[in-house]
Amino acid sequence: MKRVITYGTFDLLHYGHINLLKRAKEYGDYLIVALSTDEFNKEKGKTSYFKYDKRKALVEAIRYVDLVIPEESWDQKVSDIKKYQIDTFVIGDDWKGKFDYLKEDGIQVIYLPRTPEISTSKIKKDLEDSNQKKI
Ligand code: CTP
Repeated sequence: MKRVITYGTFDLLHYGHINLLKRAKEYGDYLIVALSTDEFNKEKGKTSYFKYDKRKALVEAIRYVDLVIPEESWDQKVSDIKKYQIDTFVIGDDWKGKFDYLKEDGIQVIYLPRTPEISTSKIKKDLEDSNQKKI
């Protein structure tokens, strides 16, 4: 069985996320999502709209996803790869080159093209702008 892992916050789940997870699953039979915890997001300077448990429930409901684990630090990737016997690491190409060092652990590292014109930040900004227009 080929095991794939990906990492992210997946807040305000949108079609860019679904598209990424669908393509990630095509690299194997079992897809693990390491979902950034609220504490880890704080470290990254991010605040999600949905808290961890809500985001986890949403991601778990996606048919391509087999397991959701917490992402609590930058450097857990190497131990996750060992623990879950990962074959392939997948992430969007906004991270291109950043995780090439994982190849040293003998796994495949794939950067998938992002779905254009959608992101959690854009959704937040567009909603904010549309509210301002009403005032
Ligand atoms: N992703 C993607 N296409 C998009 C948005 C996200 O392929 N349009 C991918 C990212 O590259 C990453 C995963 O989805 O591999 C989770 O990304 P995340 O940062 O949680 O979502 P964003 O919408 O990019 O959030 P933000 O705007 O807060 O950065």
